Amino acid sequence: MKKEEILAIEQEVCSWDDTVHYLNPPKIFRACEESYLYDEENKPYLDLQMWYSACNFGYKNERINNAIKDQMDKMGQLASQFLFEEKVILSKKLVDANQKRFGLKGRIHFNVGGSQAIEDSLKLVRNYKKKNLNFAFMGGYHGRTLGATAITSSYRYRERFGHFSDRALFIPFPYCFRCPYGKNLDSCDYYCVKEFEKLFESEYYSIYNPRTKDCEYAAFYVELIQGTGGYVKAPPEYFKKLKKILDQANILLVDDEIQMGFYRTGKLWSIEHYGVKPDIIVFWKISYKWNESFIRTMGKRRAYQSKYMAAGFYSFYFLFKSDRCKSRLRSYEHHRRKRLRKHGSTKRAKVFRGLEKIKEKV
Ligand SMILES: Cc1ncc(COP(=O)(O)O)c(C=O)c1O
Repeated sequence: MKKEEILAIEQEVCSWDDTVHYLNPPKIFRACEESYLYDEENKPYLDLQMWYSACNFGYKNERINNAIKDQMDKMGQLASQFLFEEKVILSKKLVDANQKRFGLKGRIHFNVGGSQAIEDSLKLVRNYKKKNLNFAFMGGYHGRTLGATAITSSYRYRERFGHFSDRALFIPFPYCFRCPYGKNLDSCDYYCVKEFEKLFESEYYSIYNPRTKDCEYAAFYVELIQGTGGYVKAPPEYFKKLKKILDQANILLVDDEIQMGFYRTGKLWSIEHYGVKPDIIVFWKISYKWNESFIRTMGKRRAYQSKYMAAGFYSFYFLFKSDRCKSRLRSYEHHRRKRLRKHGSTKRAKVFRGLEKIKEKV
C-alpha cells in the first residue's frame, strides 16, 4: 500500500488516542534493524531511545528472534491454568539474582505490560496493608491504566477522567540541577528529605499519627532514576535517608524498574546504585519482545506468602506466554554473559566523549 493510502485509512479506522498522533501526519516505518528504523524510502533513523528502552538488544536481534521461533514451534501458547518449564526456570534465575543482591527470597509474578504489573503491585500492597493510598514522586511515571494513572504525577493523564480517589500524595523529586526548594547539594544537607520527614512529626500534618505510629499511606512508588520525567537521577544518599523514614513509619518502598532495570544503568536494578533494599520491584521490557513481569522481594514482611497472592486474584487471560518466557530467558542469558553491560559501557563512553566535544564548541 502507498503511504497516502495507509494514512487515509488510518484516519478513518484507528483510535485517536494512539500515540502515533503525537505527530501529524503519523510517521510510517517499514523495517528495523539493530539501532535503526527505516521509513518508506528506506531512509535510516537512529533510534536514540530504543523504543522507550524496551529494545535494549537492538531491533531484530537474531538470538532472541530464534528463541521465540523455537518456542512457537514447540509450544507457543498455553492457558494460564497450566504450567510450563520455561516459566519456572526464568523465575528461579531472577529470584536467585535478587537473593544475591538483597539477601531476600522473593517470588515472580507475570503479567502482560508495565501498567498491568503496576496494577498488580497496587493490589498486592492493598491486600497486604489494607490501605489504598500511596506516595509517589512529582515527575514520576507509572503507566496509564486507572490505578497507574493515580500514582503518575502529570495531571495531563488524569484531567479528562474525573475524580481519582486513590490519587497519590506527590512529593518533590530530588532533582538537584533544578532543585524544587532552590537549594544547592553542596550546602543543603538533604533539606528535601527533612521536609518529607516533617510530615511524620505531628498528626496535624495529615498523614501520620505519632502515637499509634500509623500512616494513612501504604507505600512509596519510586523510579530511582526518572525516565519519562526527563531522565533525572537522585543525589547519592537520598534513598538511604528516605528508606529510613519509610521503615520507621512502616511504609513499603515499591521500586518501579520498568524503564531503568535490566542493566540499563549498568547494574541489574537501578536501585543497586543507591544501596537500599526495595520491598517490591516492578519491571518489564527485559528484552524487546513485550516482556513484562514483576518480582516481589518482601523479606521479613513476608507479603509474598500465598495469603496475599491467592490463586486467581490477579490473573489475566494472557498472564504469561511461553514464547515470551523463552525470549526473556534468552535475554537474561545474554545479560549474564555481560554482553549488554560491556556493549552499554563502550557505547556510553563514546557518546559522552562526543558530548564533551560538543560542549567545548558551545
Ligand atoms: C517507569 C515506568 N513505569 C511504568 C510504565 C508503563 O509501562 P507500559 O507502557 O508497558 O504500560 C513505563 C512505560 O514506559 C515506565 O517507563
